[in-house]
Amino acid sequence: MQLRPILRGLKSYLPISATPKSTGGTISARYCYAVWLRHQVLLAESGLDPHPHTVAELGPGDSLGSGLAALLSGVQRYIALDVVHFATPERNLAIFDELVALFQARAPIPDAQEFPQVYPRLSSYDFPSHILSEAHLARALAPQRIQKLRADLAALHAPSPHSAISYICPWTDASVIQPASADFIFSQAVLEHVDDIHLTYNACHQWLTPAGVMSHQIDFKSHGITDVWNGHWGYPDWLWRIARGRKPYFLNREPLSGHIAAIRQARFQILRVLPVTRQGGLGRKQLAARFRTLTDDDLITSSAHILARKLSD
Ligand SMILES: C[S@@+](CC[C@H](N)C(=O)[O-])C[C@H]1O[C@@H](n2cnc3c(N)ncnc32)[C@H](O)[C@@H]1O
Repeated sequence: MQLRPILRGLKSYLPISATPKSTGGTISARYCYAVWLRHQVLLAESGLDPHPHTVAELGPGDSLGSGLAALLSGVQRYIALDVVHFATPERNLAIFDELVALFQARAPIPDAQEFPQVYPRLSSYDFPSHILSEAHLARALAPQRIQKLRADLAALHAPSPHSAISYICPWTDASVIQPASADFIFSQAVLEHVDDIHLTYNACHQWLTPAGVMSHQIDFKSHGITDVWNGHWGYPDWLWRIARGRKPYFLNREPLSGHIAAIRQARFQILRVLPVTRQGGLGRKQLAARFRTLTDDDLITSSAHILARKLSD
């Protein structure tokens, strides 16, 4: 166990902000384009409708770019839910303009060479014209539509009732979204941070329309908090609470099987799991007592993409 995470947790009690300044990824339009198109391509690949009407995203981070990419690909309404207000109007507008240019150029999806840390991986990074046909894009990228979306984005602080975009932050309970109003929910590198995965998956169930689908890329690694990729599983709960300190979110340390169990408990059918494995790091004996019983699969799973469909009550 390293002392550094504990010291950082204690530092968060000093009278300085414990909130991170940024989250990293969605500061770049190309990253947002890469993320949204991955989720959309995997929907189509799984035989599901890749053109949902209303999309909700958990934890957009530094900008609403991934959801803006969803809107530019033809989605009608986008709802972003976060616990920290990272996205600024200036950045959102700049990323929106860059995304318009990427779609207009039918740019290929940025691949693993450009974004080695971004999962899920795809079998092809060509522009997905099998999903986004010319006829479809003519409607989705019509100048009046782009103008309206940009105006909605600029007015996000005081949205009109007809706005295509909502940014709800912070959200604490499921009542922030109308029940059965989203066809698709996605997240990228977020569900390892949520404090209560059961509350979150139950909320997703409540928000989704019947047979609605959710797509989550989850990163089980220690996010650099420790030197080894699975070092966070070496801390007992009481020490991990100190390491969290006053930070608005941290790592819930739930392994893949914990997410799968919680998703099933929240009444979803798991459609597909794409795990990524990694060797090295702490061995079973070096883990805190509660993690020593991790399954052999959990022990080497560093991230996973999970696609699940809402089951009716
Ligand atoms: C690592 S960042 C990922 C940001 C973005 N999705 C990306 O791909 O770069 C994690 C994000 O999850 C958000 N987050 C943490 N707990 C959350 C929760 N319970 N609900 C929604 N978002 C949450 C954080 O505020 C942050 O924006």
